[in-house]
Amino acid sequence: MAIKTRRPTGIVPWPLILLEGGEKSGKSWACAELSASEKVGQTYWLDLNEGAADEYGAIPGARYLVIEHDGTWAAILNQVSEVREEARRAADAGEPPVVLVIDSMTAEWDLLKDWAGNRAKGSTSNQKRLRADPSAEVQVSMNLWNDATARHRRLMTMLMTFPGIVVVTARGKEVASLDQSGRPVEGSKDYKVEGHKNLAFDASVWVRLSREHAPIVVGARSVHAGIRPGVDKPVPAPQFTLEWLVFDALKCNPVEAQVRALTTTKAGAESPDGEDLSAKAGELLALAEDASSEVELRRVWDQIRPALDGQEISAGEADRVAARIKALGAQLAAGTEAAA
Ligand SMILES: Nc1ncnc2c1ncn2[C@@H]1O[C@H](COP(=O)(O)OP(=O)(O)OP(=O)(O)O)[C@@H](O)[C@H]1O
Ligand SMILES: [Mg+2]
Repeated sequence: MAIKTRRPTGIVPWPLILLEGGEKSGKSWACAELSASEKVGQTYWLDLNEGAADEYGAIPGARYLVIEHDGTWAAILNQVSEVREEARRAADAGEPPVVLVIDSMTAEWDLLKDWAGNRAKGSTSNQKRLRADPSAEVQVSMNLWNDATARHRRLMTMLMTFPGIVVVTARGKEVASLDQSGRPVEGSKDYKVEGHKNLAFDASVWVRLSREHAPIVVGARSVHAGIRPGVDKPVPAPQFTLEWLVFDALKCNPVEAQVRALTTTKAGAESPDGEDLSAKAGELLALAEDASSEVELRRVWDQIRPALDGQEISAGEADRVAARIKALGAQLAAGTEAAA
């Protein structure tokens, strides 16, 4: 196969900003304040277990809309997907960027952890343990953690390819550092961002807020505001606002900014002897993996028959896609129940 390449564009992509810090350090306030900026379009606010969204609507100039959801994973993912489509429309129409605020991603990962825990309670081994001792620890097996991580990844991929600005918050604080056996080490502290362990990796800009010191840009993937890791100390930014960060420090230009090009690796499920899927079957599987609601899954389902009739996929492939859609549908439904 010939080498396939392209030149990098050098364009600043839309940022995915992580704002983390202790209690009352100004995380939610900063998000509400950004919505007042003339440089941004409509801001959508997804509140997860924080409850600050209503109150901060009173901040002068703040103009954001609170996303309504019922707390279930399916509803949350579905709303994010809707906002993403609106952001795409606004970007294509040349309107100012849509902003999505998620306050907080700590609560998002807590929800997925609880989902894994609730599912684990139903397992035969845990049921047996609980019958013997109702206060026994429920053990969450690796496959359940993998499902929770898969859900988290699906959300993160949507955020990382959002055609506008995304700001997510998380709790962050100093904790006693632990030695290898999990015992606290006296007099030594580590800083911990609460949420999925890859949250800071996935963000393109990472900002720490604190009640004690000025905001600090801990790290940024940026040519313009880049901080040389291990060389430059993170710089306190007393002038910090999200508007300053996006438009002055990162030099994001709404006219040319684009979604960061992210080709996610696709693990697939092909057999090792190289029996490859047809292009259409691969496409249907990818669509199913990306579906965030049962309606979207059904849309993929409805494509199986025509693809089979049109001989774009084999009968085996049709079975495989159907099985995967059923599994994903069950996951979505289980999440709806677990969170209800
Ligand atoms: N930039 C600011 N200008 C003026 N007041 C601010 C600013 N940032 C924060 N505050 C004050 O600090 C309070 C707490 O801020 P905020 O609710 O944003 O913190 P938080 O980090 O989201 O806290 P929590 O962890 O409880 O969600 C605000 O209600 C406001 O009174
Ligand atoms: Mg808050």
